[in-house]
Amino acid sequence: MLDLLSVENLSVRFHDQKVLRNINASFKKNKITAIIGPSGCGKSTLLKTLNTLLMEDHEANIEGKILFDNENIDKIEKEKIRQKIGMVFQNPVPFPLSIYKNMEYALKYYGVKKDERKMIIEEKLKVTGLYEEVKDSLNKSALKLSGGQQQRLCIARALSIEPEILLLDEPCSSLDVKNTKNIEHMLLALKDQYTIIIVTHNLFQASRIADETLFMLDGEVIEFDLTENIFNHPKEQRTKEYVMGIYG
Ligand SMILES: Nc1ncnc2c1ncn2[C@@H]1O[C@H](COP(=O)(O)OP(=O)(O)OP(=O)(O)O)[C@@H](O)[C@H]1O
Ligand SMILES: [Mg+2]
Repeated sequence: MLDLLSVENLSVRFHDQKVLRNINASFKKNKITAIIGPSGCGKSTLLKTLNTLLMEDHEANIEGKILFDNENIDKIEKEKIRQKIGMVFQNPVPFPLSIYKNMEYALKYYGVKKDERKMIIEEKLKVTGLYEEVKDSLNKSALKLSGGQQQRLCIARALSIEPEILLLDEPCSSLDVKNTKNIEHMLLALKDQYTIIIVTHNLFQASRIADETLFMLDGEVIEFDLTENIFNHPKEQRTKEYVMGIYG
């Protein structure tokens, strides 16, 4: 099984606060990996490090290696990394533009021609199950969509430039059961084409959709294994206590 993305001895500090401690992890191609752990343990920081976003933060001191397709990420052009590794942030907000313009934004930046943009936009809105809901109102402000629709739009927007890896930070945090199920179905359908890493506080969600699960505590990886093992046969006592709901 090919590891598309991996980190070696990754540590991140903000001033004197150590937020990630010597992380070693490999994320498999065409699999869904869930990252779980209590609030503040460093999940979002890890995702931001994976797509090199954190390197723009001058407050962050980063040590260690990140490999994309076995190549050191430092050696790859930033533009290429951002295209290959798409990210949807915790509580994403669409741009204050129309639905269509939101979808078109990155495509224009990457110089995709108008006709092709139209085709890609339609395809990605279909993949995220939004097309039928918005096809007659593509010129409407994206901010007028419901929370669930906005979340799916942000995922569709991230997919527009064909990343290989999709990083999702709590994509269902503000969604109801039906919208959460929609996103979960969508992710399961997408994994044939993409490698997905999802941060979630919803342990049931991790157990439903993730092939592998990484459990973090206070900036450290405590256990990283097949989801089935993390939830049913954890090796570490701390994992056992977390999945039984003892921590936050
Ligand atoms: N840019 C930053 N500057 C300084 N400290 C930061 C920065 N980003 C994160 N931190 C600190 O790093 C720690 C980990 O934050 P992070 O956002 O990664 O946690 P998390 O696991 O995603 O939490 P949550 O589940 O609440 O989203 C926190 O103590 C946070 O205050
Ligand atoms: Mg977070």
